[in-house]
Amino acid sequence: MKPRKHYVLLLCVLFCSGMAEALEPISTTIAVSMAAALTGILASYQNIFYYFHECCRQEWISFNKTGLQTDLDEKLFGQHIASRIVLKAVNGFMNNENPKKPLVLSLHGWTGTGKNFVSKLIAENVYKEGMHSSFVHLFTSTLHFPHPSQIATYKSQLQQWIKGNISNCERSLFIFDEMDKMHPGLIDSIKPYLDYYDKLDGVSYRKSIFIFLSNAGGESIVETALDFWRAGRDREEMELKDLETSLSLSVFNNNKSGFYRTSLIDKNLVDFFVPFLPLEYKHIIQCTKAEMKARGLEPDQNVANKVAKDLVYFPKFDRVFSVKGCKTIDSKLDYYA
Ligand SMILES: *[C@@H]1O[C@H](CO)[C@@H](O)[C@H](O)[C@H]1NC(C)=O
Ligand SMILES: *[C@@H]1O[C@H](CO)[C@@H](O)[C@H](O)[C@H]1NC(C)=O
Ligand SMILES: *[C@@H]1O[C@H](CO)[C@@H](O)[C@H](O)[C@H]1NC(C)=O
Repeated sequence: MKPRKHYVLLLCVLFCSGMAEALEPISTTIAVSMAAALTGILASYQNIFYYFHECCRQEWISFNKTGLQTDLDEKLFGQHIASRIVLKAVNGFMNNENPKKPLVLSLHGWTGTGKNFVSKLIAENVYKEGMHSSFVHLFTSTLHFPHPSQIATYKSQLQQWIKGNISNCERSLFIFDEMDKMHPGLIDSIKPYLDYYDKLDGVSYRKSIFIFLSNAGGESIVETALDFWRAGRDREEMELKDLETSLSLSVFNNNKSGFYRTSLIDKNLVDFFVPFLPLEYKHIIQCTKAEMKARGLEPDQNVANKVAKDLVYFPKFDRVFSVKGCKTIDSKLDYYA
């Protein structure tokens, strides 16, 4: 028997469920005097509670704008458009006490360009526990929804998960990876949660964030980037408007994307389509140096050159963009560093 454990549990229930706020005034008085009586015994456990038990409160969930800005500036390379949109979108949303709908971001681009990385940065600058937070949920199509024949089961499961998790904490984050491998019907099943509803069955979804990741639309982004390169124009001159229309069209009309003909796009429920540009040699160098630094090594230009030269670039003759972005740098670095 460990009665101490029960006190901690009681505190968790009181603080986490927000019950303390919901109590009637009279019972609040009782609760306060009870709490006062217990304070002596429990003082140390309160601290333990606040520090060690994650709950759906400001102590654990609050947006750090400086943090996200610094991370995007220092750790993400070659993505001036994505950086700008993500910072603005998340900042605007998190500072709005009464958003009309959840924030829905759709991140597009070829593999290795930083889509997963950016969702991780968002999680880390909103949740103290980052990707380990119990309020951050990552779904990978090939892992969570692998069999097309079970689509009906997945649909109801996914709806229950989202509803359950948001009832638990309205500041929840859902990340859907490999959207291009997802059955198009599946994503439509969560459409009501992304819409402009005040509440559905008593649950408000408006403070949650949904992030979709996919390679779909990657070709149209690459084409635009190549056009700029061939015209001798600076990559940094590229703007969202150069990409946005062709991106959303190609995603919507691509029968291999999880968004094929989805009403999410039809109904404008995606707030931002965020394009990730293909990476050039110089970005591979930057990624490699950053990775060396992260490993506690001195960033070394020679090693970075070796790693960057080892990757495959396209188009065939011009060799402008890295085929796998910064993705395989890890293993190359093991070899050269
Ligand atoms: C926000 O992020 C910055 C930069 O990473 C960091 O120095 C600062 O301590 C963070 N603030 C909070 C409240 O966590
Ligand atoms: C929350 O989502 C996870 C999947 O990430 C699921 O396993 C869990 O059952 C959900 N929780 C609730 C209360 O529905
Ligand atoms: C997808 O579109 C292509 C070209 O339009 C077509 O050849 C193919 O059969 C389609 N696939 C499916 C599964 O509809």
